[in-house]
Amino acid sequence: FLLLSQICIYLQWSILRACCSKFWHISDLHLDPTYHITEDHSKVCFSSKGIPALDPGVFGDFLCDSPYRLILSAFSYMKQADLQPEFIIWTGDSPPHVPKEELSTDVVIDVIANMTHTIRGFYSLVIKPGLRLVSLNTNLYYSPNQVTVNMTDPAGQFQQKLEKVKRTRCTDHVYVIAHVPIGYLPYAINTTAVRESYNEQLVKIFRNYSDVVQGQFYGHTHRDSIMVLLDQQGKPVNSIFVTPAVTPIKSLLEPYSNNPGVRAYLYHPENYGLLVSFYLNLTEANLEQKSDWKLEYIMTEAFDIDDIQPHSLHELALRFEQPQSKDFDKYFNHFMVSYNFSLTCEGLCKTIQVCAVHFLDQETYSQCIAKAGI
Ligand SMILES: *[C@@H]1O[C@H](CO)[C@@H](O)[C@H](O)[C@H]1NC(C)=O
Ligand SMILES: *[C@@H]1O[C@H](CO)[C@@H](O)[C@H](O)[C@H]1NC(C)=O
Ligand SMILES: *[C@@H]1O[C@H](CO)[C@@H](O)[C@H](O)[C@H]1NC(C)=O
Ligand SMILES: *[C@@H]1O[C@H](CO)[C@@H](O)[C@H](O)[C@H]1NC(C)=O
Ligand SMILES: *[C@@H]1O[C@H](CO)[C@@H](O)[C@H](O)[C@H]1NC(C)=O
Ligand SMILES: *[C@@H]1O[C@H](CO)[C@@H](O)[C@H](O)[C@H]1NC(C)=O
Ligand SMILES: [Zn+2]
Ligand SMILES: [Zn+2]
Repeated sequence: FLLLSQICIYLQWSILRACCSKFWHISDLHLDPTYHITEDHSKVCFSSKGIPALDPGVFGDFLCDSPYRLILSAFSYMKQADLQPEFIIWTGDSPPHVPKEELSTDVVIDVIANMTHTIRGFYSLVIKPGLRLVSLNTNLYYSPNQVTVNMTDPAGQFQQKLEKVKRTRCTDHVYVIAHVPIGYLPYAINTTAVRESYNEQLVKIFRNYSDVVQGQFYGHTHRDSIMVLLDQQGKPVNSIFVTPAVTPIKSLLEPYSNNPGVRAYLYHPENYGLLVSFYLNLTEANLEQKSDWKLEYIMTEAFDIDDIQPHSLHELALRFEQPQSKDFDKYFNHFMVSYNFSLTCEGLCKTIQVCAVHFLDQETYSQCIAKAGI
């Protein structure tokens, strides 16, 4: 039965891929150039910070950032899939997670240059010219960023970008892309990804401009999640997508990580449509010494929704709220990029996940948490 449904998905995919406009979204490559297989597992990668790698193979390890080969395998797969994308969204985070002392500016620049060169080897254009993409530097608002503490509008970005969005209001739709997402983290209670005051401002802005902003695309959490922005009357007005990372890294204490993931969006400009996620089973790839990237799921198919517009995502969020929701279990498996189907998310884990899906501001999020009685 599983096999049959798998075949159906592939069939559907082969039909779908002939349709409409497409783009890829990749994020959090985190190249670790020190990755190498060696007897002493504590020396496999700098990014494990001296902790022995778990099961290092040619495509990586769940305690390490990406070896170059893993990143190449992702790009090769994207090339071979031959979607003829109009553009690629790349939402940052290239350098490895190593102690600050070991990450000089030169190393960071080298890694970013390397990743830019590598991807250009596969694609001649990274961003389509004249595209209605508004790229927001949300790193400015990232909570640990000490430089921006107490600034109301770091780099004057709100002002500038808003002017830009306003100017396109009559003619165009806008996709907002950024590294650090708005809203609450799906795995930590009461915690926004950007500083709370900026999150409040951003939510207000996106509510205000929801008629122009057709979608928001982020990375940074390394996990696959969705959010739907509700306006003050509770009406869904914006779809928000957080794409999983290519790097499989986790810290030793985390119960799970993510398999490497990349994704494509297929859309008609009028009713932007589909999200298709691909993944590499890292354990299997290492065992077989071969990278077999696969289709993981087609969002509309997996959850039986019409499209990925705000009202559909909202309908889905309401289904997630139900006890023993099979849809939520599936969503949680996708969240980890099919890392381990035996892991479940219930109680507090589920509350935090589901509140984060449809409550992005402090007031409604707190109400959601309070309602769950936690
Ligand atoms: C990027 O880095 C990898 C690993 O260090 C190296 O093998 C590769 O040649 C570099 N590529 C470019 C384009 O600099
Ligand atoms: C930010 O503002 C608070 C309260 O006004 C003040 O205590 C703190 O020193 C300020 N921090 C910085 C980095 O300016
Ligand atoms: C909302 O949009 C209106 C009209 O463009 C503008 O005047 C106002 O400043 C905006 N408010 C926010 C919070 O962005
Ligand atoms: C990934 O591969 C491992 C090893 O072959 C297998 O046990 C596991 O079930 C696979 N996971 C998925 C989601 O297929
Ligand atoms: C998957 O999760 C189950 C349940 O927590 C655990 O027993 C098992 O060891 C995990 N498998 C892997 C490969 O991590
Ligand atoms: C989260 O925030 C809510 C509402 O502000 C509060 O009642 C609750 O105690 C907080 N929980 C934690 C663990 O911080
Ligand atoms: Zn990252
Ligand atoms: Zn990040």
